[in-house]
Amino acid sequence: MRETWEERPTGVPGLVIVVAVADNGVIGADGSLPWRLSADLRRVKDLTMGKPLIMGRRTYETIGRPLPGRESVVITRNPQFAPEGITVMPNFEVALVAASEVAREMGTDEGIAFGGSEIYAKALPLAKRIERTEIHLSPDGDTKFPEFDPADWIEVAREDYPVGIDGAAAHSFVTLERR
Ligand SMILES: NC(=O)c1ccc[n+]([C@@H]2O[C@H](COP(=O)([O-])OP(=O)(O)OC[C@H]3O[C@@H](n4cnc5c(N)ncnc54)[C@H](OP(=O)(O)O)[C@@H]3O)[C@@H](O)[C@H]2O)c1
Repeated sequence: MRETWEERPTGVPGLVIVVAVADNGVIGADGSLPWRLSADLRRVKDLTMGKPLIMGRRTYETIGRPLPGRESVVITRNPQFAPEGITVMPNFEVALVAASEVAREMGTDEGIAFGGSEIYAKALPLAKRIERTEIHLSPDGDTKFPEFDPADWIEVAREDYPVGIDGAAAHSFVTLERR
């Protein structure tokens, strides 16, 4: 049997964080995203297709359904939470093991840490890459990306986009790899 991600040394293939974060660190407000940016939704789709997504129960409920072409591994302490079409796990550690098995069945070596904040906090020490969309706004919000040490990461790609003609926020697509 292949090793699971948590048995591998930190930063070795496996876990990728995908997040959109505002300039003030906000990632969510009132159970949803405090911006609309279709370019980011397209990028998230490209980054996640064919891979397992590890997410908290609230993030799953904001989406409201299993995302097509991906497998959702949803973490909750509620043993009654059992929507169809997803894998439910009681903590991050077992979710990681489940996601690595799902990834193998899907024929990929990667799984996605998909939020929210506690999931990102648990994923940060293990992830090999962060795919971050920087939203150049400072909205009010109740959910933030956790503090992390930028010195652990090197920026390997950046695309900057100005405010769109449709009023879409200025944003940057950034890839960070663990040093
Ligand atoms: N900008 C982005 O890229 C992005 C990405 C994802 C989410 N978001 C936003 O972030 C917000 C949701 O994030 P959130 O941080 O509030 O919630 P969340 O992480 O999605 O879900 C929290 C819930 O997950 C379960 N959970 C989390 N860690 C757990 C653990 N270690 N063990 C067992 N269960 C655990 C618990 O569920 P139970 O209460 O059921 O036990 C907890 O209440 C929304 O506004 C969403 O739109 C933004």
